[in-house]
Formats: sequence, structure tokens, C-alpha cells
Amino acid sequence: MVDLSSHLFLLSLSLHCCFIACLAANTKNITTDQSALLAFKSLITSDPYDVLANNWSTSSSVCNWVGVTCDERHGRVHSLILRNMRLRGTVSPNLGNLSFLVILDLKNNSFGGQLPTELCRLRRLKILHISYNEFEGGIPAALGDLSQLEYLYLGVNNFSGFISQSIGNLHQLKELEIGQNKMSGPIPQTILNMSSLEHINLAVNYFSGEIPSLNNMTSLRVVDFAFNNLNGRLPNDFFNQLPQLRNFSLNNNQFEGSIPQSIGNCTSLIYLDLSSNFLIGMLCFLSGHIYLK
Ligand SMILES: *[C@@H]1O[C@H](CO)[C@@H](O)[C@H](O)[C@H]1NC(C)=O
Ligand SMILES: *[C@@H]1O[C@H](CO)[C@@H](O)[C@H](O)[C@H]1NC(C)=O
Ligand SMILES: *[C@@H]1O[C@H](CO)[C@@H](O)[C@H](O)[C@H]1NC(C)=O
Ligand SMILES: *[C@@H]1O[C@H](CO)[C@@H](O)[C@H](O)[C@H]1NC(C)=O
Ligand SMILES: *[C@@H]1O[C@H](CO)[C@@H](O)[C@H](O)[C@H]1NC(C)=O
Ligand SMILES: *[C@@H]1O[C@H](CO)[C@@H](O)[C@H](O)[C@H]1NC(C)=O
Ligand SMILES: *[C@@H]1O[C@H](CO)[C@@H](O)[C@H](O)[C@H]1NC(C)=O
Ligand SMILES: *[C@@H]1O[C@H](CO)[C@@H](O)[C@H](O)[C@H]1NC(C)=O
Ligand SMILES: *[C@@H]1O[C@H](CO)[C@@H](O)[C@H](O)[C@H]1NC(C)=O
Repeated sequence: MVDLSSHLFLLSLSLHCCFIACLAANTKNITTDQSALLAFKSLITSDPYDVLANNWSTSSSVCNWVGVTCDERHGRVHSLILRNMRLRGTVSPNLGNLSFLVILDLKNNSFGGQLPTELCRLRRLKILHISYNEFEGGIPAALGDLSQLEYLYLGVNNFSGFISQSIGNLHQLKELEIGQNKMSGPIPQTILNMSSLEHINLAVNYFSGEIPSLNNMTSLRVVDFAFNNLNGRLPNDFFNQLPQLRNFSLNNNQFEGSIPQSIGNCTSLIYLDLSSNFLIGMLCFLSGHIYLK
């Protein structure tokens, strides 16, 4: 008995030591956040309003830097919000070290190059807003790892390539905007697994093929797939269970066949544009803004 308990004690002690050692190896603190932000600043090649030049100085805490907020509980960087500042450059992969980041918002600047895969390490991220920049290359498949993500705005950039199947892992996602890029290939079936999705905008790209039948996406309010190369027929039950649907745009594609009668179930619909397709059908039971051609 004595032997056994002392063995257990030794075992637990060694496990404990390993645990401490492993923790220490992964420990990040506000100093890590500071070096991540300084790395980010160092890749900004133009800052015409001098927003960061003087303000982001190591003589004050990063929590006082313009665009940066920290959370009270951990004292770590919680959000980085730099909108409309005409900042130019590439995004440092070191931002992936901001392990408590919840909001990353760089909307409307001139950031270019590829979106670093390291951002997919930001496991607490809820909002990623980088619309109106000049990003190019693919959208990293590892974005599907951001399981807390609720808002993903990538619109008005130069992203190309396919949307990864892994997008379906974003079970918390409410809004997905990839409009006005150069994306191609199919809209993945896995979007049907994003059961929280309310708003999806994939307009003005080169998406092709048939679209997934959205008939069980009960939270959807806005769907905009306009100006792509999508085709095929809409199944009869397409609109069966879209009670929240308000805006639905499929215009300027190559859909054919008839408009499903199930559209009568969409009692919240206020905006419908199916124009510039090869669709036929009657919509006399609908009111609101209807565009058919
Ligand atoms: C952060 O951790 C490093 C070691 O990893 C340490 O040298 C530094 O003093 C710590 N900074 C703060 C503010 O605790
Ligand atoms: C940086 O900007 C913030 C917000 O405008 C301000 O509160 C802070 O004092 C500035 N810090 C320095 C060092 O200029
Ligand atoms: C982008 O920011 C500039 C100011 O830097 C502003 O003039 C412009 O209206 C903004 N554009 C958008 C789409 O927000
Ligand atoms: C932060 O991330 C970069 C690149 O992702 C890495 O090389 C670096 O070692 C990290 N720095 C710290 C202080 O953790
Ligand atoms: C996309 O790339 C084209 C040239 O390839 C360029 O003219 C255009 O301004 C870019 N758009 C954005 C939003 O970066
Ligand atoms: C949804 O997720 C489940 C389990 O994660 C998977 O088996 C299924 O194939 C997915 N469905 C679609 C349409 O992606
Ligand atoms: C919709 O149906 C697909 C398969 O038919 C399933 O994988 C998905 O989880 C369903 N989504 C919702 C929101 O029920
Ligand atoms: C509305 O949806 C139900 C199933 O939820 C379906 O049985 C019915 O036919 C639909 N109504 C129309 C007008 O298609
Ligand atoms: C939805 O349609 C309404 C009515 O036309 C319009 O005012 C609104 O901007 C549209 N919303 C989106 C997100 O497209």
C-alpha cells in the first residue's frame, strides 16, 4: 500500500512539473502583445495622418495606444480597431500572438499582400473586419479554426481562389461578407452547417455551379449572390423554412427554370432581385421591391 501511494505521489509530482513547464513555454503576457503590435507597426509603410508614428510608443502602455483596448480581467489586448486611416503595408503574422484578441478591425485602409495564416491562432476572435483593403491571394482554410467568430467581413479586396469547406466549422458565424473579390469555384455545401448565419454576401465574384439548398437555414435574413456565374434550378422547397428572409438577390447569374412557389412562405421578404437570369414564374402574391427581368 505504502509503495503504491508513494508511486502515485511521484507520478502526480512529475505530471505537475510537466504541466508547469508546458504552461511556462506557452505563456504570453502584455509584453508579447507589445512586441506583436510593434511588429505590426514596423510593416506599415505609409501612415499619412501620423496616427501610429508618435502615439504607439513604448513609453506608454499598449493599452493607451490609439486603436487598442485591453480587457480588465486579463490585462491583455482585447481589440485592435484602426478604420479609415489610409494605412498601407502588409499585416504582420505576429498579430497571431495577441491571444486574447476579440476584435480585429482594419476596415478601409490599404493593407495588401496575403492574409497571414497565423491570424487563425486567434481562438477568441469574434469579429474580423478587413473589408475595403487590397488583400490578395487565398482566404486561409484555417479560418475555419476560429470557432468563436461571429462576424467575418472580407468584402472589397482582391481575394481569389475557392472558399474552403472548413468555413462550415464556423458555427457561431452570423454575418459573412466576401462580396467584390475575385473568388471562384462553388459555394460549399458546408455553409448549411452554419446554423447561426443571418447574413451572407458573396456578390460580385466568379462563383459558379449550383447553390446549396438553403431551405433549413432558418436564421437567414439577407442573401446576396448577385453578379456571379451561378446556375441550375432552384428546388421547389428552396424557400420552405426561411421565415426571417428579408433581402434575397440572385440577379445577374444564369439560373433557369421556374421560381419556386415556396417563396410565398417568406413573409418577411422586402427586397427580391432575380433579374438577369433565365427564370420564369409569377410573383403576384408578393409586395415590396421586386425586380424581375
Ligand atoms: C512577460 O513574460 C516574460 C517572460 O516570458 C518576462 O520576462 C516579462 O517580464 C513578462 N512581462 C510582464 C509585464 O509580466
Ligand atoms: C495616444 O492616443 C490616445 C488616444 O487618442 C491618447 O489617450 C494617448 O494619450 C496618446 N498617447 C501618446 C503617448 O500620445
Ligand atoms: C475610407 O476612409 C477615407 C478617409 O481615410 C474616407 O474618405 C472614405 O470615405 C472611406 N471609405 C469607406 C468606404 O468607408
Ligand atoms: C510571435 O509570432 C511570431 C510569428 O508568428 C513568432 O515568430 C514569434 O516568436 C512570436 N513572438 C513571441 C514573443 O511570442
Ligand atoms: C485589385 O487588383 C486590380 C489590379 O489587378 C487593381 O486595379 C484594383 O485596384 C485592386 N482592387 C483592390 C480593392 O485592391
Ligand atoms: C455538417 O457537420 C456534420 C458534423 O460535423 C457533418 O457530418 C456533415 O457532413 C456536415 N454537413 C454539411 C452539409 O457540411
Ligand atoms: C441543414 O441540413 C444539412 C444536411 O441536410 C445539415 O448538415 C445541417 O446541419 C442543417 N442545418 C441546419 C441549420 O439545421
Ligand atoms: C411552406 O413550407 C411548408 C413546409 O414547411 C410546405 O409544406 C409548404 O408547401 C410551403 N408553402 C408553399 C407556398 O410552398
Ligand atoms: C435590404 O433591402 C432594403 C429595402 O430595399 C434596403 O434598404 C436594405 O439596404 C437592404 N439590406 C441589405 C443588407 O442589402
